[in-house]
Amino acid sequence: MSERSFDITLTVNGEELRERVDARSTLVDFLRETLSLTGSHVGCEHGVCGACTVRVDGAIVRGCLMLAVQCDGAKVETIEGLSDTGEIADLQQAFAERNALQCGFCTPGMLLTAQDLLKAGGVPSRETIRVQISGNYCRCTGYHAIVDAIEAVARARTGRGG
Ligand code: FES
Ligand code: FES
Repeated sequence: MSERSFDITLTVNGEELRERVDARSTLVDFLRETLSLTGSHVGCEHGVCGACTVRVDGAIVRGCLMLAVQCDGAKVETIEGLSDTGEIADLQQAFAERNALQCGFCTPGMLLTAQDLLKAGGVPSRETIRVQISGNYCRCTGYHAIVDAIEAVARARTGRGG
């Protein structure tokens, strides 16, 4: 069986790109290995841990379950892009202040998943926050500090105190 590759055009963190990708390359491998965007991590490689979470056309997806070739024409955003635009600066600060990260392996995916909830507005319940991040595994923190940080940012964004 011969290797097959395809030319795709896509936008990554606001930059238009034309790339040749192997048909079997996952989105997260493409981001890390071809574009050197190593903030998206690879953990389980089968859709369980959430370390590879990125945003495609506004929705969070598992970068290990999507092929790069499927992103032809798509708008892809990674932790690097969200950091550069300042979209999640308050979340990043809250995670740091509340010790919501230790080794940091889960953190990029956790931040994208949290922002996916918070951008809907309002102050979600702690239970809703826990459900939202239930697909993002953290081996270090025990999750409480992460929920605290997300809740604090939700309150701050809605002007209801932090
Ligand atoms: S590496 Fe994609 S969900 Fe674990
Ligand atoms: S901070 Fe280490 S896995 Fe979450």
